[in-house]
Amino acid sequence: MKVLEINGGKTLEGTIRISGSKNSSVALIPAAILASSEVTICNVPEITDTDALAEILDYLGAKVKRASESIVINPTTIINKEIPEEMSNKLRASYYFMAVLLAKFKHVEMYFPGGCSIGARPIDQTLKGFQALGATIKEVENRYIIDAKKLTGAHVYLDMPSVGATINTMLVAVKASGETIIENAAKEPEIVNVATFLNNMGAKITGAGTSEIKIIGVDQLEGCYTEVIPDRIETGTYLIAGALAGKNLKIDNIIPEHIEMLILKMKEMEVPIEVGSDYVIISKSEKLHPVKIKTQGYPGFATDLQQPVTVLLTQCEGESQLEETVYENRFKNVPYLNEMGSDIKIIGKKIKIYGPTKLVGKSVEATDLRGGASLILAGLIAQGTTTISNIGPVLRGYEHIVEKLTDIGANIEIKEV
Ligand code: EPZ
Repeated sequence: MKVLEINGGKTLEGTIRISGSKNSSVALIPAAILASSEVTICNVPEITDTDALAEILDYLGAKVKRASESIVINPTTIINKEIPEEMSNKLRASYYFMAVLLAKFKHVEMYFPGGCSIGARPIDQTLKGFQALGATIKEVENRYIIDAKKLTGAHVYLDMPSVGATINTMLVAVKASGETIIENAAKEPEIVNVATFLNNMGAKITGAGTSEIKIIGVDQLEGCYTEVIPDRIETGTYLIAGALAGKNLKIDNIIPEHIEMLILKMKEMEVPIEVGSDYVIISKSEKLHPVKIKTQGYPGFATDLQQPVTVLLTQCEGESQLEETVYENRFKNVPYLNEMGSDIKIIGKKIKIYGPTKLVGKSVEATDLRGGASLILAGLIAQGTTTISNIGPVLRGYEHIVEKLTDIGANIEIKEV
């Protein structure tokens, strides 16, 4: 079994370069299937989630070439066949294949997708989008058979601004005839990245990044080149590391606007932070003010940073509060943080954090991707050794995390035990 071992208390100095966004890449890779010739996607992170998608593409018969930061996909040889459950349940993003295979072949058979266990995570809004565009869906237990004689543009209202449902509806609508309008669309930067990619292929999408997206369907999409945006959640995670243990730590290659809600909260806490055009320089402060945070869709406070920021709140003086409004089960890291010495109470959808508390190294478990990241952050400031088991979820989402943290002075390694 592999574990992450961290000896805490080291100062983090130097520069950390942020990788391409996981949540963009995992949508861009399946979207490549829609092109009728070769597609190049640059700045793709080397993480197990992108490996899993490349494996699915390969299984479907696409030609995939992976260089260090880019992926070249030739989808012309693709065959429409059912993706085995053990492949699709490795990650949530496998359901983008549902959309692109439906758009391309008007028929798809697939299992319910995987993903971190942080809530029920239904896909009803995605299915509602497909149905609005003319698909019929047969659902047998966790398997879906989706058919469409014809895909026709429609007016779709999402009951909540779901990232997945917005992208899935967009992926089908680009090939449907006529106009589609997605109301109450999610506004995350990853959606803009996907829309830009599709527009580079020849799609006609306007309004991505707002709550109303308009798509005029086209017959043919051509191969093109695109670039993945910097990962705003990785950026936020390292910003928190800097606020916990940094000394003029530079977080480079970022889009500060994408992480503004965290930067503003950090300013409220009085974290010393300098924001540049594509970087941030951040240091630890001896005294931090407590704050209240509520997770929301973009541009609100990202749920994916809720667990990492909890660690910073353990170092604020007094009571901080954090309300999780997106997922019903995203506090699984809290018992482990409390074992390490924090004082956090879970009250329904809220946690109250009393600080500052000294953290000590313990043996803990990464229950999910961002929960695992929060334990790494805690380990960086804990006294002694923190050993984190079940590190698979962390490696799904953070490129070269051990190397990046080692380069800035952390004492962290993966060990076989
Ligand atoms: C994406 O998940 C991200 N994953 C998540 O990141 C992120 O937490 C989430 O968006 C919100 O920002 C990927 O991009 C691969 P949603 P997604 O559909 O698309 C409910 C991480 O840590 N909902 O916006 O699955 C749902 O249960 C991961 O990197 C429905 O009820 O999220 C949730 O409560 C975890 N029905 C809320 O909406 C639906 O049909 C938001 O989900 C769809 C969603």
